[in-house]
Amino acid sequence: GAPVQADVSKLAPGQRMTVAWRGRPVWIINRTPEMIERTKALAEERLADPDSQASEQPTYSTGLMRSIRPEIGVLIGICTHLGCSPVYRPEPDATGVGVDDWPGGFFCPCHGSRFDLAGRVFSNVPAPTNLEVPPYRFEGDNIIIVG
Ligand code: FES
Repeated sequence: GAPVQADVSKLAPGQRMTVAWRGRPVWIINRTPEMIERTKALAEERLADPDSQASEQPTYSTGLMRSIRPEIGVLIGICTHLGCSPVYRPEPDATGVGVDDWPGGFFCPCHGSRFDLAGRVFSNVPAPTNLEVPPYRFEGDNIIIVG
């Protein structure tokens, strides 16, 4: 499939947009400094693969936030368990995720897998690996080319 283009100039802090690439949804989220701090504060013991050693991502998606720019997250929006679509729960107090100290992220309603705002999977859920990061690059400040 051809690469797809996304313009993040109107993606407000905290918001998510979706583009389709090779028949799959790609999520682009604009993480606020506070969201990044919350993700960094998450204890590694709660995560199955905190350093993304077993998870699919390009080599340039480095660092804890698994992205080229820390504030812009680019993730394949498909649960790594059995392929359901997780829901975006960016706020720490969001309900329906079954944990008291939910730091915000993505929740899969099919079997309860949870991912943080970097797409990293929690350790006590059925999904085995972090959400996949597709290949992507920036063209200027606001255009992302996925693929
Ligand atoms: Fe997401 Fe099973 S498909 S938890």
